[in-house]
Amino acid sequence: MDPNRILIIDYGSQFTQLIARRIREERVYCEIQPPTRSLEWIREWAPKGIVLSGGPSSVYGDDVPTADPGLLHMGIPVLGVCYGMQLIAHLEGGKVEGGRREYGRAQVTVNEPGGLFAGFAGGESTQVWMSHGDHVVQPPPGYRITASSADIPYAAFQARDRPVYGVQFHVEVAHTTRGADIISNFAFEICGCEPTWTAGSYIENELAKIRGQVGESHAICGLSGGVDSAVAASLVHRAIGERLICIFVDTGLLRQGERESVERTFRKHMGIRLEVVDASALFLERLAGVEDPERKRKIIGNTFIDVFEEAADRIGSDARFLVQGTLYPDVIESLSVKGPSATIKTHHNVGGLKEDMRFGLIEPLRELFKDEVRQVGRELGLPEEMVGRHPFPGPGLAIRVLGAVDRPELEILRQADAIYLDEIRAAGLYDDIWQAFAVLLPVRSVGVMGDERTYENVCALRAVTSRDGMTADWYPFPHDVLGRISTRIINEVTGINRVCYDISSKPPATIEWE
Ligand code: XMP
Repeated sequence: MDPNRILIIDYGSQFTQLIARRIREERVYCEIQPPTRSLEWIREWAPKGIVLSGGPSSVYGDDVPTADPGLLHMGIPVLGVCYGMQLIAHLEGGKVEGGRREYGRAQVTVNEPGGLFAGFAGGESTQVWMSHGDHVVQPPPGYRITASSADIPYAAFQARDRPVYGVQFHVEVAHTTRGADIISNFAFEICGCEPTWTAGSYIENELAKIRGQVGESHAICGLSGGVDSAVAASLVHRAIGERLICIFVDTGLLRQGERESVERTFRKHMGIRLEVVDASALFLERLAGVEDPERKRKIIGNTFIDVFEEAADRIGSDARFLVQGTLYPDVIESLSVKGPSATIKTHHNVGGLKEDMRFGLIEPLRELFKDEVRQVGRELGLPEEMVGRHPFPGPGLAIRVLGAVDRPELEILRQADAIYLDEIRAAGLYDDIWQAFAVLLPVRSVGVMGDERTYENVCALRAVTSRDGMTADWYPFPHDVLGRISTRIINEVTGINRVCYDISSKPPATIEWE
């Protein structure tokens, strides 16, 4: 266990995950936990510091999340952010008021450098991000004011006799220009943490945990070709070697060269025991004539589980564990202030789990964010082609051939998609784009090639920038790159005579077309 650890108590802010990311960027381990954790639990967890997040509640509301006042007297440094600061004020005898919302950039003046503001100049004005309805109108007795703004005299405070701090603005948001400095001051100067959280240290800890969990048994892992399952598999492989068996299902809905690339990476490069199950005939048979996108998704998900279970039974009947690429954002969701989520997530690598599953779960990435997964992958020696790749949806090309799916159309799409990605890489743009792919439309248009009239399908190209896939913007390609891609697709792919570029953002469109 890394003793350099900070506990973040989540009061429901949309920015709580960002606090965790910022602390981890300082190489300090942290976890997000709900406000219901007892003082005993916290003492046992032994954080070097505690952050109380923002949240949508008002401290005077009914039934709002709160904290045991003893939390502020445990001798562990506490930083309250926004609602967290208001909660400290409330618990310590100060006053909070609502009525004046403040949202957006603001300037605060640092009255007192040192502490959270170590390295700031006295009287320095700095840009911060405010997002609150309530604010502190009277600090608790024994607190002094360390920063103020034109609208809010008490923008930051600090207890005189204990390491308890509050800031009304959001230190975790990029618009707070020196937010990272404030977080770093809290973690290192105030809490006394060391920057020990690295991909290497994470791997070492996980290896020991996985070995302890699996013992002499076997584990299986469904590979999707994506980053998460690849990193999870290579971590478990490093822990238990040959006793990990990976299963890769060729659904017939994969991109060009995908199966070969997975085989090359895992079997040859990583030396992992890999079973490739060719179930393309079954998938395409079950999908025949189905046009509705959600029905297609269901059929694919169910077929995936059937095939995976059958393969697992056949090759690893003594396997007692299943490796999943669950990430920290999924874990946070089920632990948040809103309480355990009722929904069981079904989007993981095996396409959904059965309730009566006989496997124990190994989730070696459950404490990591996506960018950290990539760092761990690099540290484990996974090739960049695997670690840096764009996301690819579980239902694969089936949701990119619009309407009913069949083999010839999948093959046309595969060729167009490969040319598209090839040209993006050649132009050096792959890493600037969050996700790029081709879509085959069930629309035919007239063209002319040589002296011949053609009547063929339209191909749409999609490329987006995004942070997390929740919102997205279309990517502004240089026109010459688009021109080259279009010319090559039309010339080289029989079955496509027209190429369009999708310039819709999400929302209101989605990234995928189905
Ligand atoms: P949308 O189309 O919802 O896509 O804007 C957001 C991100 O999710 C991916 N996506 C899926 N991934 N199963 C998956 O595993 C699915 O059914 C699915 N649908 C969309 C999409 O590729 C994008 O990255």
